[in-house]
Amino acid sequence: MTKKIVINGGKKLSGEVSISGAKNSAVALIPATIMADSTVILEDVPDISDVHSLIEIIREMGAVVTFEDGTLTVDPANVFAKKMPTGKIQSLRASYYFMGALLGKFGEAVVGLPGGCHLGPRPIDLHIKGFEALGAQVETINGAVHLESKNERLLATRIFMDTVSVGATINVILAAVRAQGVTVIENAAREPEIIDVATLLNNMGAKIRGVGTNVIRIQGVDELHGCRHSVIPDRIEAGTYISIAAAVGENITIKNVITDHIDSFISKLDEMGVDITIGEDWVRINKTDFTQLEPSKIKTFAYPGFATDLQQPITPLLLMANGTSEIIDTIYPGRINHIPELVRMGAKASVEGDVILVQGPSKLTGAEVAASDLRAGACLVIAGLMAEGETKITNIEYILRGYSDIINTLNSLGADVRLIEE
Ligand code: UD1
Repeated sequence: MTKKIVINGGKKLSGEVSISGAKNSAVALIPATIMADSTVILEDVPDISDVHSLIEIIREMGAVVTFEDGTLTVDPANVFAKKMPTGKIQSLRASYYFMGALLGKFGEAVVGLPGGCHLGPRPIDLHIKGFEALGAQVETINGAVHLESKNERLLATRIFMDTVSVGATINVILAAVRAQGVTVIENAAREPEIIDVATLLNNMGAKIRGVGTNVIRIQGVDELHGCRHSVIPDRIEAGTYISIAAAVGENITIKNVITDHIDSFISKLDEMGVDITIGEDWVRINKTDFTQLEPSKIKTFAYPGFATDLQQPITPLLLMANGTSEIIDTIYPGRINHIPELVRMGAKASVEGDVILVQGPSKLTGAEVAASDLRAGACLVIAGLMAEGETKITNIEYILRGYSDIINTLNSLGADVRLIEE
């Protein structure tokens, strides 16, 4: 039996959506909780399958965990440096944060990692370079990364990141919070999720300064204690619902949004002629006039540039513009697997070299399509909502990894979406 999402498209949606806590924060915050010596309470944690996988993993390490109504309580008092070369840990890429968290706390870790993902190669060389710079010995044996501090404690140092990387920046912060001395990360990534993780760690007693800029300084401390922390809203989920609202909505209000986090996305929609009202912590998409919708040129960059994670969710909207749009994904150029699926639904779209070409206006018709990754899945959901007739999406596990309660949320806006098992 496989789960599929079936969408009966062509409905006009309206109403309100409230955005959940950020997936990309939560998947780093949960590994960070095990670094404390006493209870950490995380609020606004999204109810997504990645979070449930991480809970299982930290329970295996000895943490006592409850998760109710978005509040995750982690008592890490009995956590130990469990070696995890295989098993659940390999089910999600963000497991790499256990390398930094366990190495930082215990000076050793064995973490099995998933292979390449559908975005093309996703190396972790920068993470490893950072751990080695802090004095760890790192070896990969049968797909599992073995890390061990060569000294009693990791030793602070200056690290220049060759590429701006969210994962490597967070991982080095995790490893360095208990190192001896002051670690400096240069060319650090500046994503809001990094600020969120540093805020949690600082509340736990860490001394991290400069997050949100490209130079981060971490004064090592001897211990980390419990605290309470609220996860920031998910800017990618917000962008996804904004795309849905612009494509098939009329007067949809999206609440619990830090609008500054999606400036680059909103400014693209503005240029295209989408009618948006921005509130303090909400965004309303009024009625889109498709006769006036302009095509766009989008290039993804590290934050605060246009997010690679929103490249796929905006593609269906580009299909409704009057002319040819171009997308270049400079972060993950291999993020193109949604295009052949859209073509099966009747889209005029193609990939030429590094450029995704989207020709509008294209009319979509329902079809059976497969999600190749989380955001490709979001793209196909939006296409299904736009299309005439029935769209059946397979591989929906990807979608459930990152969007909490997506089916009920869409139905509450007036969509006709259901989950089936076949
Ligand atoms: C995170 C997000 C993901 C998002 C991506 C870019 C999480 C859990 N995932 O992924 O949703 O799409 O940021 O915003 O937060 N790179 C290297 N070597 C490394 C690490 C990265 O070359 O060791 C390259 C990557 O191939 C990529 C670029 O750096 O081209 C940025 O990747 P990175 O920011 O690390 O992405 P992730 O942290 O994996």
